[in-house]
Amino acid sequence: MPTLSAAVSRRTWLAALAGTAVLSRRAGAIGTPEITLRFSHVVAEETPKGLAANRFKVLVEQRSGSRIGVQVFPNAQLYGDHDEMQALQLGAVDLVAPSLSKFGRIGLPEFELFDLPFLFDDLAAVRRVTLGPLGKKLLQGLPRQGLVGLGFFDNGFKQMSANRPLREPGDFVGLRMRVQASRVIAAQMRALGAHPVTLPFSETRRALAAGVVDGTENPVSNFWTQAMHEVQSDMSLTNHGYLGYAVVTNQRFWQHLQPDDRTLINQALQEALAFANQIADTQNDQALQALRQAGSTHIHSLTPGQRTRLRQAVQPVQQQLASRIGPHWMKDLEQALRQA
Ligand code: LMR
Repeated sequence: MPTLSAAVSRRTWLAALAGTAVLSRRAGAIGTPEITLRFSHVVAEETPKGLAANRFKVLVEQRSGSRIGVQVFPNAQLYGDHDEMQALQLGAVDLVAPSLSKFGRIGLPEFELFDLPFLFDDLAAVRRVTLGPLGKKLLQGLPRQGLVGLGFFDNGFKQMSANRPLREPGDFVGLRMRVQASRVIAAQMRALGAHPVTLPFSETRRALAAGVVDGTENPVSNFWTQAMHEVQSDMSLTNHGYLGYAVVTNQRFWQHLQPDDRTLINQALQEALAFANQIADTQNDQALQALRQAGSTHIHSLTPGQRTRLRQAVQPVQQQLASRIGPHWMKDLEQALRQA
């Protein structure tokens, strides 16, 4: 836990940065953009999110004739998981795209419904939520935190890794598993007999290397681009959970943009998100291929029986966490998933 004075000085520092951001956004000296958007994220550039952010930059700069610039800060260069949302609320950055698992801790626990294990059979089922009334309603909750939600996009399905094969529920017992800050994911690990340890993404590889945690879960693109294969001997292709993102901006910033600029930025973003959804699967497939070629991590495919037993072991999480997510959200979720 940070001390109060550390928290206060971090706030002051973020506020100072926010002031700088406002000035630099409107600088408009000759040859420099009139408006500069700062897009901060925590993953590598060769991931679905990294590529989407870079595509967004190209589209905005092309279409505005470089009047609007976009600075992308990947790999938690500027802010990590703990800071990026606060930096956005203070206006120190203009866009972030945290995973849906990271909204619970800013008072939006309903987003953790995406973390329920074995919830989605495929990406078509995810779309029924994100593109339907439920997705819209989820984004409508963001102004409660001074934010605006601009859209969802995929990374993909998560796989489990550790320094031993993870095939049966019993293989997880006693392992310290790094998780994102989601109560649902923590409950999932507990249901498997593991100890969940919440860590920022940018600290995960180091924690695995140091033995602070024993294993983790993530889509292969995140695993590969952080070189986690150098510190994890085994990966099981469990596809047990979904990892996706919401792009969010600061409400004040968004409202103060000229309507035409807002339209241009939003259109470019929607195209970048559609692009990310198109390439996400391929990115994860290519990362898996690279991982196989690297040969340092054993890749295990589960038998149908092993998958069923894992699924049964985490089944209670749905009931346990329904009250955190909210019963009416769970009802909407069931309805969305029923619509084939
Ligand atoms: C994680 O923390 O594991 C992911 O949310 C990272 C990301 O943004 O894909």
